[in-house]
Amino acid sequence: MTEARAPLLEARALRKDYWLPGKGRIEVLRGLDLALHEGEVVALLGKSGAGKSTLLHVLGTLDEPSAGEVFFEGEPLFGRDEAELARFRNHTIGFVFQSHHLLPDFSALENTMMPLLVRREERRRAERAAREILERVGLGHRLDHRPGELSGGEQQRVALARALATRPRILLADEPTGNLDPKTGKEVQDLLLELNRELGITALVVTHNESLARDFPRRLYMEGGRIVERSAL
Ligand SMILES: Nc1ncnc2c1ncn2[C@@H]1O[C@H](COP(=O)(O)OP(=O)(O)OP(=O)(O)O)[C@@H](O)[C@H]1O
Ligand SMILES: [Mg+2]
Repeated sequence: MTEARAPLLEARALRKDYWLPGKGRIEVLRGLDLALHEGEVVALLGKSGAGKSTLLHVLGTLDEPSAGEVFFEGEPLFGRDEAELARFRNHTIGFVFQSHHLLPDFSALENTMMPLLVRREERRRAERAAREILERVGLGHRLDHRPGELSGGEQQRVALARALATRPRILLADEPTGNLDPKTGKEVQDLLLELNRELGITALVVTHNESLARDFPRRLYMEGGRIVERSAL
């Protein structure tokens, strides 16, 4: 019998509190458990303010939990030093932020190449990979445009391309289709599902759109600072 493999990414008893001077403590994550297995593509739903972005930031090690732990392939992440975590993020995680965080002075192509250059890939190869993924998200004709010269939805697609350019093991995407019209939103989501099938990228995708979420084989809801699984809706 083969030994059961650890989940690719796992959160155990995760808590995140915010202290606001004069306003007290907000408990956003309240003992949350979550396991993502290799190759899964999962939708994360929940009301505004439920803590979806907070959870993604902690899972992606961009923010520390107040208590609890996140494991990658069974190994705890938060004991590692910042250089190790930065390497983990660059090599393993693709992050699409709710506000896309593109660099304003760089073109779509340069923004998409950035994480590849950070990991010291040769410029020509980085450019080829970035161009390829931008074409996949339908932006082959906007390579030289800066974020300010792109529509909101186009900026979001550049952010998605940037997250995917490194072929990450895990994609954490915070409403990657939030600013898109229904047709483009569906196209971007289909692309995500396709890349999951083709490349085996494990993905956790925040969405407010119940009908788009139905395309996901697994759906999670954030409620009361925890995860509720409702795959059979
Ligand atoms: N840096 C912070 N300091 C204090 N409180 C914060 C901070 N970031 C988030 N919060 C609070 O944590 C709660 C959850 O925020 P979060 O951004 O995770 O929600 P969300 O589920 O992503 O919402 P939305 O769907 O609107 O994006 C909110 O009530 C918010 O006020
Ligand atoms: Mg959010």
